[in-house]
Amino acid sequence: MDKLVLLPGPVMVHEDVLLRSAKQVMNHRSEEFEEILSECIELAKYLFQTDGNVAVITGSGTAGMEAAIYSLVEPDEPVVSVVNGKFGARFADIAERRGADVHRVEFEWGEAADPKAVDEALSETGASVVTVVQSETSTTVLNPVKEIADVCKDHDAYLVVDAVSSLGGVEFRMDEWGVDVCVTGSQKVLGCPPGLALVAVSDEALERMKEVEAGSYYLDLVKYFEYLEEDPMQTPYTPAVNAFYALHEALKKLKEEGLESRWERYKRLQEVVREGIRAMGLDLFVEDDSIASPTVTGVVYPEGVDDREFRGRILRDKYDVVVAGGQDHLAGKIFRIGHMGDVKLRDMITAVTCVGMGMLELGVDVDVGAAVERMAEVVAGS
Ligand SMILES: Cc1ncc(COP(=O)(O)O)c(C=O)c1O
Repeated sequence: MDKLVLLPGPVMVHEDVLLRSAKQVMNHRSEEFEEILSECIELAKYLFQTDGNVAVITGSGTAGMEAAIYSLVEPDEPVVSVVNGKFGARFADIAERRGADVHRVEFEWGEAADPKAVDEALSETGASVVTVVQSETSTTVLNPVKEIADVCKDHDAYLVVDAVSSLGGVEFRMDEWGVDVCVTGSQKVLGCPPGLALVAVSDEALERMKEVEAGSYYLDLVKYFEYLEEDPMQTPYTPAVNAFYALHEALKKLKEEGLESRWERYKRLQEVVREGIRAMGLDLFVEDDSIASPTVTGVVYPEGVDDREFRGRILRDKYDVVVAGGQDHLAGKIFRIGHMGDVKLRDMITAVTCVGMGMLELGVDVDVGAAVERMAEVVAGS
């Protein structure tokens, strides 16, 4: 078991983070745990770039999405959901399950959301809640959250953002942009094992949540915020204590590196992968650099290459490199290289080179040498 895991989550976890989570459990209703929890919340505010409210839920990213919707949205109310991939559709499905009257603003998979269409949908529906995914992991597209937030402001609508696969790896400024609710997960950019969802809520959105009767017992965000006011500060239900240790360590690492430095570092990792793939002669699923996610890159399979054979027998079994396949109708058509978590330039260079060697083995005419040369240029800063 010595694989290079380059999935868009879960990701490689730094040894310090892993070892921290191996410590003995503690009473989660103690001053000792309060110290960890309160520092996690403070560091998470930095991560979200907010002075507002942050809750940490034991559960995966989807739990965070569901908590956001079931705490903010009332049954029957109109909701506008931007759908240009699997996770945008998941937000819409959750809102529908909540009983909302969901209006989907759809785009082709591989295209970015157009804020104008959100504007029109808000005018048409009078909805007061909009959902959007920042990095649509299924298509590797980065949606323009800031511009969509501007539109929401014009309509006095709350904006709920899924930044599960992007937060910490790409610019996101909750307060400055006017985002109301934002969700992320521990097992992506933060580089922790899976298990925690972080949800940030603006003061205005929290006021609304207090008026809404939450549709979920476990995922009632108001309760999480009430328990943060307890002495000692705590979570309503038994948290995954060891996952909090890991989160604490990972957030400290992020603060040490600095958000902006991490955003820059991720851009560089992305550029190495994209330029290497292009130089060898393969097609990127999202050709336009300006809408490509800095945390994951999709590559189009050349005609005749079998996904299982390539990702399984060759990349995983021969080269110990684990990448993701396509989702839903993109299964077998693309594969995705994650560049988030505890990854370095070395890992990107390894991945691209192994992709090239795997393609050669399958008879695809790629130029691995050109990819290496181009990656060297990118690393050298040209
Ligand atoms: C953008 C996005 N949203 C939501 C999720 C769901 O997260 P989880 O699998 O942690 O529930 C994922 C997972 O890949 C994701 O990439």
